Amino acid sequence: MPNFNIVVLPGDGIGPEVAAAGVSALKAIGEVYGHTFNFEEKLIGGIAIDERNDPYPADTDAACLAADAVLLGAVGGPKWDLQPKRPEQGLLAVRKSMGLFANLRPMDVPASQAFRSPLKEEIVSGADMLIVRELTGGLYFGKQTRTDDRAVDECVYTVEEIERVARVAFEAARKRRNKVTSVDKANVIETSRLWRETVIKLHKAEYSDVELEHALVDSMAMHLVTRPKSFDVIVTENMFGDILSDLASVLPGSIGLLGSASLGSGKGLYEPIHGSAPDIAGKDLANPIGTLKSVAMMLRFSLNLSAEADALDAAIEAVIKAGQLTRDLGGTLAGSEVTKAIVAQIHAAKVAA
Ligand code: NAD
Ligand code: IPM
Ligand code: MN
Repeated sequence: MPNFNIVVLPGDGIGPEVAAAGVSALKAIGEVYGHTFNFEEKLIGGIAIDERNDPYPADTDAACLAADAVLLGAVGGPKWDLQPKRPEQGLLAVRKSMGLFANLRPMDVPASQAFRSPLKEEIVSGADMLIVRELTGGLYFGKQTRTDDRAVDECVYTVEEIERVARVAFEAARKRRNKVTSVDKANVIETSRLWRETVIKLHKAEYSDVELEHALVDSMAMHLVTRPKSFDVIVTENMFGDILSDLASVLPGSIGLLGSASLGSGKGLYEPIHGSAPDIAGKDLANPIGTLKSVAMMLRFSLNLSAEADALDAAIEAVIKAGQLTRDLGGTLAGSEVTKAIVAQIHAAKVAA
């Protein structure tokens, strides 16, 4: 019987609530398909600062590096804001340590759900994109210096860093609608000029069968809400990808719907794109679907269980279609009730098959 070791990093705020949803879904998949998932919970973020005075303790790092896959909830919260040790440092540390240079953030709006969008149905209905965000470079990892009246954030990108993430985007496009939109600010920023030149060279050398376009990040923000259906795969640097993916999450109606896979040369980490949502934490209001979609990607990309991933995706879709939703999407259910409905659907689908 296959056995998988999953490290769970619940973190802060709604992190533990959504991570628990992910564990429930994996347990259900295990029961139905005959796999054993061993869960090991570890500290990261604010709770790790409180308990260990370290946002990313060494034993968490060792466990993540040894795991078959890592599931993360969220980190951060007002309690730790503006302190020298910050929860977010834990998140950046795990990404860097595991070598997770590509963060895949899919977003789609099925026609049947377009009415939930705050945007016009005809604009969003059928939109389906994959944002590939570079995750271990740029402003997030550059040298930072600070005096009383001056702060510096260095932004560095190398050809190698740009090429490897662009490759992920081109490969993904070949399995989708064969189009890549590379987003930069090449009219102003030097790293963006290197970004654009590198993407053009790689495209010419290895991916000329894929349609490639370039967009400046400012007008891209506009196009994402005015004509989202024109995009297939979007590839961009760390900070632009962070911002544009939150923007894209508006299209289906809630940031609570979007999951992500962070991949590199080794094992993967899976997390929703949202944060710790301190405003709703501890109230069982958090939408678990973004985390559950992340778990489906874990099954597909890290554990090689594609039938199980399809089953989880189908269960999520069925529950969404039935309108069994949390308040962020106009529903009335608690987060744990949505998870229960999805777990029940996983069992029911197997019985019906
Ligand atoms: P946020 O994503 O936590 O919340 C933004 C808004 O979306 C809030 O109104 C929140 O209630 C809502 N929301 C988020 N997730 C939801 C869900 N699953 N269901 C329903 N509603 C949801 O962003 P923020 O408020 O800017 O940041 C709060 C904290 O989270 C900060 O400390 C930030 O650093 C941290 N953060 C962490 C991660 C991460 O761990 N990956 C990501 C983003 C932000
Ligand atoms: C995300 C978050 C993180 C990021 C923060 C909390 C460090 O916003 O995962 O999108 O900016 O990468
Ligand atoms: Mn973000």
